[in-house]
Amino acid sequence: MSDKAVLHFGDQQIELPVLIGSEGEKAVDISRLRDATGLTTYDPSLSNTAVCKSAVTFIDGDLGILRYRGIPIEQFTQSPNFLEVAWLLIFGRLPKQAELDRFSGRLTNNALLHEGMIDQIQHMPANGAPMALLSAAVSSLACYHSQPLAMSDDDAFEEAAARLISKLRTIAACTYRRSVGLPFIYPDPKLRYGANFLHMMFSIPYKQFEVTPEIEEALNLIFILHADHEQNCSTATARVVGSSRANMYASCSAAIGALWGPLHGGANVEVVEMLERIHHGGLSPEDCLKAAKDKANPFKLFGFGHRVYKNYDPRAKILKACCDKVLGQMKVKDPLLDIARKLEEIALADSYFVDRKLYPNVDFYSGIILRSLGIPTDMFTVCFAIGRLPGWISQWREQHDDPTSKILRPRQVYIGNTKQDYVPMEKR
Ligand code: SDX
Repeated sequence: MSDKAVLHFGDQQIELPVLIGSEGEKAVDISRLRDATGLTTYDPSLSNTAVCKSAVTFIDGDLGILRYRGIPIEQFTQSPNFLEVAWLLIFGRLPKQAELDRFSGRLTNNALLHEGMIDQIQHMPANGAPMALLSAAVSSLACYHSQPLAMSDDDAFEEAAARLISKLRTIAACTYRRSVGLPFIYPDPKLRYGANFLHMMFSIPYKQFEVTPEIEEALNLIFILHADHEQNCSTATARVVGSSRANMYASCSAAIGALWGPLHGGANVEVVEMLERIHHGGLSPEDCLKAAKDKANPFKLFGFGHRVYKNYDPRAKILKACCDKVLGQMKVKDPLLDIARKLEEIALADSYFVDRKLYPNVDFYSGIILRSLGIPTDMFTVCFAIGRLPGWISQWREQHDDPTSKILRPRQVYIGNTKQDYVPMEKR
């Protein structure tokens, strides 16, 4: 079902088809605009441009809706199972028990790293940024698994996805252990995904870290809430790299790089550092808002605002509620939670934020829960990457399987020098 749009330019007129998505979104299809008129469109942040058709995730930014393969994220909060959601995103439906068991078994069998990679991580700088180590290690997985991926073979793809999802978690734990000078802890095949991650992060030789069901549930929920978010910066990066038919490791390694930025996944670190500055008296909540509103100041109210959500990020709503539950279970009183709540309260009463529809996003409360689980601040964005990996994989595969997809190669508006001649050195 589609309508038409008509573009008039000078003495030209062109009819353009309008695509209508399954939730009624309309997009003017300009794919033949340049050939027909010589015109291109200009949309530098791509905030008005759909670069693909996708069936993975639906967001309604005005209503604060987020659904994975049509299922509202709120419905995953009862008994959160990250691997089930990962399989759903990648394969497009909820797995049957046997399928989930098989997928889980594949992750267990792929949890170990090649000893060469362990050695590689060991020789990286101990004070290296975890996201740098993560991106480098994920890219180098292609050295250990170089066989081309049979994309049309679901079984082969499931094995490759399980391998990457499992190993990313092991690599993440290794980067942490490296940074604190502790020996790497091998994965325990008896533990499930999240529990194994915390085991590899916090167990010490001869003293296993005990993961309570509450902690395991909280970590599964955190990973699920980060699992996909349609065409965000890092997912779009995975698509751009994948569009050249680069392998999945290279594409996800590039996505990790994009996620690292403080305007994207790196915001969860900035939020906690901002809250800590307030807590230690270096900054008042009012100072924070003042700095955030000052256009001459690069400071942003981290954890607030969103390109798509012009309403409360539904993930932030769930995480805010989860803070109370997890901190209560952990018997932790975190003053940063009270500060975060105060900051939210005064921001949502301030016309600067209200007029611009700036609300808390996924990063505003996530760090407080990660802290309560004992995860250090510099590992927050790494945890975001662990959660987001199934989303990158699902979108990368969707693009690869789309017969109409081509290499992503945007155009530009050239504003440089018009033609001029080379000037020999003696005449400059
Ligand atoms: C994530 O895209 C995704 O889906 C991302 C993500 C995912 O799951 O993948 O949801 C994860 O990245 C969440 C966002 C995390 N980043 C932060 O919390 C950093 C702080 N937020 C801002 O940098 C900003 O809100 C962005 C980057 C998130 C959105 O940037 P936009 O779309 O460029 O912001 P905008 O143009 O809509 O801003 C409108 C106005 C501007 O002011 P004016 O020019 O109108 O005067 O609001 C201002 C902005 O300067 N503004 C802020 C602000 N966010 C927007 N001012 C102060 N503090 C902020 N946080």
